[in-house]
Amino acid sequence: MSKIELIITNNYEEMSQKTADIFIDLLKKKPNSILGLATGSTPIGLYKILIEKNKSKIISFKDVITYNLDEYCDIPKSHEQSYFTFMNQNLFDHIDINKDNTHLPQGEGDSKINSENYDKELNKVKIDIQLLGIGSNGHIGFNEPGTDFDLGVHEVLLTENTIKDNARFFENDINKVPKKAITMGIKNILSAETIILIANGKNKANAIKNIMKGVADKNVPASALNLHKGKVYVIVDKDAASLL
Ligand code: PGA
Repeated sequence: MSKIELIITNNYEEMSQKTADIFIDLLKKKPNSILGLATGSTPIGLYKILIEKNKSKIISFKDVITYNLDEYCDIPKSHEQSYFTFMNQNLFDHIDINKDNTHLPQGEGDSKINSENYDKELNKVKIDIQLLGIGSNGHIGFNEPGTDFDLGVHEVLLTENTIKDNARFFENDINKVPKKAITMGIKNILSAETIILIANGKNKANAIKNIMKGVADKNVPASALNLHKGKVYVIVDKDAASLL
């Protein structure tokens, strides 16, 4: 069983800064790191700090390789809400990374083949740090409650809960939210050297409480972090820690 290191911060800015410090430290020591990245509102503050540190030449992404957790199916890469667009707009366009070294699952086309291909790519590498956000229902990536922990990259049907949570990015219209996605499985996530899960806000408090019970429960996908053999950080603000 892994012992999760829980870091409770005062606010979103401090949560982002503490997380950035761990990434900066790694990039200074290992400029050719392999990073597992995440989308969503939670990592935006972290990405802003990393961009700043890159612009001031404290860190470089020239030799960094990245793999993202997930991507929506059935919307083109160029869609303004695709995770491909998100990563370019919120990080890759602003740093000195070689875009050939950035990887996301392919959302368009045959999901089975796309999943197999991404899984094969991931199996060839060892991610140094995997960053995770968490859904209010405890999902990580798009691994929704009930997902088998042994699955590799796979296609998922989004739950109603996640569709509702994400409607804010699609003009608050649940009908506009894609219903399917491709995601790294829990197995892929657990093969990273270090995992950092970040969360802020009261709507994440219950999910954080469920991770910190210390038991891996299929109904709370993020609780699988308790099975990780390497280092795990859970970095949260006060609100997300309010039920601990
Ligand atoms: P959020 O999403 O960062 O936008 O809250 C996190 C997630 O659903 O994994």
